[in-house]
Amino acid sequence: MGAMEEEVTAIRAALARPVSKTVLGCQVTSGQLDGIEILLVRSGVGKVNAAIATVALAQMGATRVVFTGMAGGISDALKPGDAVVATDLVQHDIDVTAMGRKPGELLDEPPFWPADPALSDELAAAATALGATVHRGRIATGDQFIASPGKAQHISQQFAAIAVEMEGGAAAQTAMKLGVPIGVLRWVSDTANEQAVTDFPAFCHYVAELDLAILRALVAK
Ligand code: ADE
Repeated sequence: MGAMEEEVTAIRAALARPVSKTVLGCQVTSGQLDGIEILLVRSGVGKVNAAIATVALAQMGATRVVFTGMAGGISDALKPGDAVVATDLVQHDIDVTAMGRKPGELLDEPPFWPADPALSDELAAAATALGATVHRGRIATGDQFIASPGKAQHISQQFAAIAVEMEGGAAAQTAMKLGVPIGVLRWVSDTANEQAVTDFPAFCHYVAELDLAILRALVAK
């Protein structure tokens, strides 16, 4: 699963015998990647879209979910082009602190949604094999594109997160409730500062092939 067309286009083009259908308003394409049956969905941007697309994949029988695409790096260690594999995810825009909850925490739910360790290991190995520098840590998700060093620093300090994006935490919450293992691998497109608005679209040109290479490594196992 990827959020934007740029993030899934190369995978879709590589599918043999592709069949697309609309499930819960999402275009899901089934087909074979190097002989292995997969389901591909472009969720659209944001948390609600990611949750719906995760349900659509589960309804079609997905046994594990991989979210790929781009993220903003919010730790100094992360450089554009690096890979981030989530250990767990938080939704940084959840705020029920007025009722005594911690930032990111809903009333009766944990603030952090875990990624599947085995799937995450596979994703990290695939990115390493591609020659990428791989970071493993917490990813913070919100319905906000972060393009301010102040906001980036606030999220990093509040949640001990290393990257921001707009879907993974919602997909992880949904996958957890459905009992489907999920892994999230993101390529650092920008560092969530003022330049992010130009760095992000520029990186879109590279992400399709990177995502395809990761998926190829996964199905080759
Ligand atoms: N995805 C890639 N870069 C991002 C950023 N700076 N904020 C939110 N999502 C992103």
